[in-house]
Amino acid sequence: MMQKRFFLKTTAVAALALAAGHVLAQDNVFKIGLILPMTGQQATTGRQIEAAARLYMAQNGDMVAGKKVQLIVKDDTSIPDVTKRLAQELVVNEKVNVLAGFGITPSALATASIATQSKTPQVVMAAATSSITEASPYIVRTSFTLPQASVSLAEWAPKNGIKKVVSLVSDYGPGIDAEKYFKERLILNGGQVIESLRVPLRNPDFAPFLQKVRDLKPDALFVFVPSGAGAAVMKQFLERGMDKAGIRLIGTGDVTDDDQLNDMGDGAIGVVTSHHYSAAHPSAVNKKFVEAFGKANKGMRPNFMAVGGYDGMRVIYEALKVTKGQGGGDALLAAMKGQIFESPRGPMFIDAQTRDVVQNIYLRKVERKDGQLYNVEFDVIKDVKDPGKTK
Ligand code: PHB
Repeated sequence: MMQKRFFLKTTAVAALALAAGHVLAQDNVFKIGLILPMTGQQATTGRQIEAAARLYMAQNGDMVAGKKVQLIVKDDTSIPDVTKRLAQELVVNEKVNVLAGFGITPSALATASIATQSKTPQVVMAAATSSITEASPYIVRTSFTLPQASVSLAEWAPKNGIKKVVSLVSDYGPGIDAEKYFKERLILNGGQVIESLRVPLRNPDFAPFLQKVRDLKPDALFVFVPSGAGAAVMKQFLERGMDKAGIRLIGTGDVTDDDQLNDMGDGAIGVVTSHHYSAAHPSAVNKKFVEAFGKANKGMRPNFMAVGGYDGMRVIYEALKVTKGQGGGDALLAAMKGQIFESPRGPMFIDAQTRDVVQNIYLRKVERKDGQLYNVEFDVIKDVKDPGKTK
């Protein structure tokens, strides 16, 4: 009898301990659900961001504020319905503390309602349409916005003999932002956009559009295409001899993406773009970043997507440290707002009101340096807030 009672008691205690242990194990894990396009048209974005997130963790350890940080990477193939389903599964089944990634605008927007309903911070590391941060109060952005990059180029162009421009953009959120903000600012500075062309996001054929541009003979063609599509534009631009016809190619830095730039050939030399990140950014922090990134990834050069992922991890880690691993989504979100730090891109901060990134925008020109093609920065507009937020 005594023995039986003792047995029951000990097993009950053991079960409780086991359960407690289980809770403790769960409690001690901090999960980041990283949803990225790992396959399909936007796969380079996924590859760059995953590599950057893993580098950040390798450099900073996976124990933060007593929690073991766990990265759960999911491939959404850049289909927004898939992004949404994965986000839901990550929140409900995995109980992730943070959702992160989001290679394209439609994927970021598709997840916003899940972030809001579950009070889970959603760290947007890639997508760059201005309005994204307004889709949920739980969204924080570490990439950039197209208005940010575009207005800076529209400041530079008219001062450099570019008055008559044709724009060519991918026909969705970021492209429409780029088209609009570039045009408005160019007109303000005495220039004009004589034609606005839009190409489909999926499998675009640039040829007929470029033929039209040739016939219109503008001073320059302003381009926005998402990361990964720049090389195709450059190739067709050069094949059609547009540069020889006296038409300059300008754009946001997405077109001379560091992931592809080195393979674009000498025809890319001289192309001027505006952006927040160049692998050639001359700072000690960036040199260290580029070197470590290359070392960990068979010589791969980080692009602006990588830096968005790296800094996004920084924002999450610091929020976890500040909340001492005790807070829920709201506490984490509060600790993300207002963070200010030196990124490989230069100084940046997360505006506490808008939850959007404020950063320098650089004017860069493609040059050959040490045998390789780089976006070499030659001017900077400091602390640019998203112009889309002031309307
Ligand atoms: C976006 O879909 O928001 C996006 C994707 C790639 C870029 C920029 C913006 O390079």
